[in-house]
Amino acid sequence: MPIALIMAGGKGERLWPLSTSKKPKQFTALMDKTFFQMTVDRVLPLVGEDGIYVVTQENFKSEILKEVPYLLEKNIILEPVGRNTAPCIGLGALTIARKNPNEVMIVIPSDHLIFDEERFREVVRFGCEVGMKDYLITLGITPTEAHTGYGYIHYGDEKFCKQDIKACQVLGFIEKPDIKKANYYFSNPTYLWNSGIFIWKAQTILEEITTHMPSLFQGLNTIQHYWGRPELETVKSQVFNTLPSTSIDYGIMEKSERVLVIPATFQWNDIGSWSALEKVFSQDKSKNLSIGSYYGLQSQNNIIYSQKPIITFGVNDLIIVESDSAVLVMHKSLDQKIKELIQELKNND
Ligand code: GDD
Ligand code: MG
Repeated sequence: MPIALIMAGGKGERLWPLSTSKKPKQFTALMDKTFFQMTVDRVLPLVGEDGIYVVTQENFKSEILKEVPYLLEKNIILEPVGRNTAPCIGLGALTIARKNPNEVMIVIPSDHLIFDEERFREVVRFGCEVGMKDYLITLGITPTEAHTGYGYIHYGDEKFCKQDIKACQVLGFIEKPDIKKANYYFSNPTYLWNSGIFIWKAQTILEEITTHMPSLFQGLNTIQHYWGRPELETVKSQVFNTLPSTSIDYGIMEKSERVLVIPATFQWNDIGSWSALEKVFSQDKSKNLSIGSYYGLQSQNNIIYSQKPIITFGVNDLIIVESDSAVLVMHKSLDQKIKELIQELKNND
C-alpha cells in the first residue's frame, strides 16, 4: 500500500477572515468538514489509517488531532519552522525512506476541493503504478483561465496508459508564470495546470533533491545523521532555520527530467480566493452565492459566507464574510488583492 503525505503547514490566508495565520485555510470549513478533514477522507481508502502521514508545525498538531482523532501521532512529522514545500516534502521523504526507500508516496496539499473522489482515487492508483517505475508524477488539470498562481505543465507524448487514464512526458514545467506567459499557455492545449498533487517513491524524490537542491540534501543528511539521538530536535531546528524557503515546484519540478503528468479527469479547485467559490457552488437567480442564511433584495452578484443571517438591500458585486474574528465587506473586483489588505492590517496592528 502506498503512503499519503499530507502537507498541512502552509499559511493559506487567502480566505481571510475565515482563514488566518493561526487557523490557515486547511483548517477552515466551507461546508461541514474542513479542507484538512476532506483531504484525509479522500486518501483514506487508498492508504488506510496507518498510511496517513502529515507534515506540519507544532502549533497545528493539536488542531490536526482534534479534527481527525484516529491519526497516529507518530505519523505527524513536525517541521521546526515552515520553509515551504521542498523542505516539507524532503523531511517527509526522509522519514518514509527510513522505513522503506521504495515506498510510493502520494504527496497531497490540504487546501483543495475535489468532488469526484472515486475518479480521483482511480487516477492516483494508476499514478502509484507508474510511480513504482522511478518517475516523478504530477496530476495535471485542464486550465480554465490564464491564472498566474499555478504551475503550468507542457506535456508531450503518452508514455503509459490504463483504460482512459494516461501518463504523458513532461516537456517543461513553469511555476507561477507572469500574465503574458500564462495567456500563451492558456491558449495552447498542450499545457495543463499543476494540481500540486505528486506521486513518487521516497527514494526517487530524495535522489532528485540530491541532484537539484544540494543545500536541502545536505540539511536532510545532517538530520539523518542524528536520527534517533537526543540532539535530533535541536539539529532539526538548526537545519530548518538555515534552509532557503523554496517550493518543490521551483526547486525540483522545473528542473527534473524524470517528470510525467497524468491529466486528471476529476473536478478540482483550490479555492484560491473568495470568487473561486463561483466555480464550485451554484448561484441563485440574482447570481448571489451564499453559504449560510442569506436574503437579498435588489442585490445581485454577491458572495456571502456567514453563520448569522445576512440581509442585503440594493448592493451588488460584494464579498461579505463573517468569521469569529471579523466581518469583511469587500468589492469583488479586489478579490485577488486580499494579500495587500492583510499586509496593511498587519502593518497597522
Ligand atoms: N508542512 C508544510 N510546510 N506545508 C506547507 C508549507 C510548509 O512550509 N508551505 C505550504 N504548505 C502546504 C499548504 O498548506 C498547501 O496544502 C500545500 O502545501 C501547497 O502550498 P501552497 O502555498 O498552497 O502552494 P500554492 O497554491 O501557492 O502552489 C502550489 O499549488 C498549486 C495548485 O494549488 C504549486 O504546486 C502550484 O504549482 C500549483 O499549481
Ligand atoms: Mg495552494
